[in-house]
Amino acid sequence: MFYPEELVEEIRAKNDIVDVISGYLKMQKKGSNHWACCPFHNEKTPSFSVSGSKQMFHCFGCGVSGNVYTFIMKYENYSFQEAVKLLADRAGVQLPEVEYSEEARRRENKRARLLEVCKEAAKFFYFQLRSPHGRIGYEYLSKRELSDETMHKFGLGYAGKDGAGLVKYLRSRGYEDELIKEAGLASYSEKRGLVSQFWNRVMYPIQDINHRVIGFGGRVMGDGEPKYLNSPETPIFDKRRNLYGLNFARTARSGNVILCEGYMDVIAMHQAGFTQAVASLGTAFTPEQAGLLRRYTDSVLLAYDSDGAGVKAALRGIGILREAGLSGKVINMRPYKDPDEFMKALGREAFEERIAQAENSFFFEIRILEGQFDMKDPESKTRFHREIARKLCGFTEDVERENYLQAVAEKYFIGVDNLRRLVTGYAAQTGLAKPISRPKSGVQQKNKPEESAKRSQRLLITWVTDEPSLFEKIRKYITAQDFTEEIYRKVAERLFRELEQGSYNPAGIISMFEDEEEQREAAALFHTKLPELTTGQEREKAFHDIVLAVKKNSYEYYTAKLGTDVSALNQVIEGKKALEELARTHISLD
Ligand code: GTP
Ligand code: MN
Repeated sequence: MFYPEELVEEIRAKNDIVDVISGYLKMQKKGSNHWACCPFHNEKTPSFSVSGSKQMFHCFGCGVSGNVYTFIMKYENYSFQEAVKLLADRAGVQLPEVEYSEEARRRENKRARLLEVCKEAAKFFYFQLRSPHGRIGYEYLSKRELSDETMHKFGLGYAGKDGAGLVKYLRSRGYEDELIKEAGLASYSEKRGLVSQFWNRVMYPIQDINHRVIGFGGRVMGDGEPKYLNSPETPIFDKRRNLYGLNFARTARSGNVILCEGYMDVIAMHQAGFTQAVASLGTAFTPEQAGLLRRYTDSVLLAYDSDGAGVKAALRGIGILREAGLSGKVINMRPYKDPDEFMKALGREAFEERIAQAENSFFFEIRILEGQFDMKDPESKTRFHREIARKLCGFTEDVERENYLQAVAEKYFIGVDNLRRLVTGYAAQTGLAKPISRPKSGVQQKNKPEESAKRSQRLLITWVTDEPSLFEKIRKYITAQDFTEEIYRKVAERLFRELEQGSYNPAGIISMFEDEEEQREAAALFHTKLPELTTGQEREKAFHDIVLAVKKNSYEYYTAKLGTDVSALNQVIEGKKALEELARTHISLD
């Protein structure tokens, strides 16, 4: 922690979560909660709830939850420290500089300075483009049919033929050589000293989702090599975790995101009104980027080049999207090469049609697969059908698999029953009766033993925080040690301590964790859906079962550790006693 816990808590308490989130989302009050459409997944009816009394948010659709810090971190893509800063400012709380550790302050300062120098460089390039010797860059971009407005929106610029200009300018603004170098803007050469990395190129500043310039792509004007020169990775420029255009696309509210290959594609798409277009940063699309997209949409349309390399990249992208639980479709750009060319030739409306006709990613994969087999040769054709069966096994849900099976059978003239036999055979043969499951983040996976143990632990915490009087009744049997998940245990330790003192504060507990994922896990503990039971008897039985399950899991957990962990013995002895007692004890909920 940079900041003392009390300060973090004070700032949190001064920022009412309903107020803060109202600034971002349109909310409606219903009952004791406020409701909105979730900003972290795509939905049409609100399942994102904000509780003023708990000072937490929770989405019943995708499972995200947390306190006001979690929200800011997720929404703004901020670190915990940045979220604390933003909310401190908002509440007029002065943050003490001294609370930074030496090392932490250096790191934060470095990041801030790198952002500054990149912004300054972007300004420099921007003005160059609009100056007489930037004319050549301006003409290049105009020839590619970009309007002044578009060039302005994307902050496009020009790096001159004189490699020393940028360095001279940045030095004059007080930036040290070391920093300029670390930002990836210039490099040393024996002969000429520090010279700009970019040279006679049109410049595309790359921004994070908060519109902060974090790097650059520079394109030669014409056919030179390399076509693009991108900034190297720096402490602020992580190519795996950012997407070009996402700073605009995240507020496009179009219900989907269009993933393109190139910067120029994104720019052309935005100019044509498709402000939901993004592209990866000169590298292949990554799982991290898919995770980023999942905050804003659950439907991604691939607008990759229509050549062989584009198809290969699309196939890879589809796999990554699927792993992330996102639905993917492929836009057909033929006869044009990419969205930029398509837009120039046919324009917006024709592209709208292509969006409407976008191909389901599974059918796209099968269609590409088909090309590798000779359908006139029975043996090859059989292999094709087997391959389809193998792919169908990837659908974990029976209904979904059956729907795809029928659709693909019809499309490729395969007997449905024959194909189903192939699928069953394949599943049995490879032990894939339950094919690989792909959990969406935030949606719990059921049935696995550790998952059911975690679930009982979550249920218990939610139940006890909903009815704090229950704490008295279980404290004899359950301690924080019984929570075998580390995060759960930390929460339980703190929660039980607070309950002993008579009042507890879930939103405050969540800020113990600085990592967004950990906050999410911790917050989920307070939002598990309790069983809907009507009679008192049913409720008592359910509660008893949960307590028992938690204790039993803990007993087994420590038993397994007996050989290696001396402290486990106590837990085991105590656990055995408690279990026996619990078995014959009635816990009344009144
Ligand atoms: P235009 O050719 O100007 O239309 O650019 P584009 O954005 O359409 O580029 P293209 O489709 O050729 O390439 C897609 C993306 O790959 C680009 O936006 C770059 O991010 C990256 N890329 C292309 N060529 C190079 C290169 O030579 N070096 C590097 N590092 N990246 C490249
Ligand atoms: Mn292009």
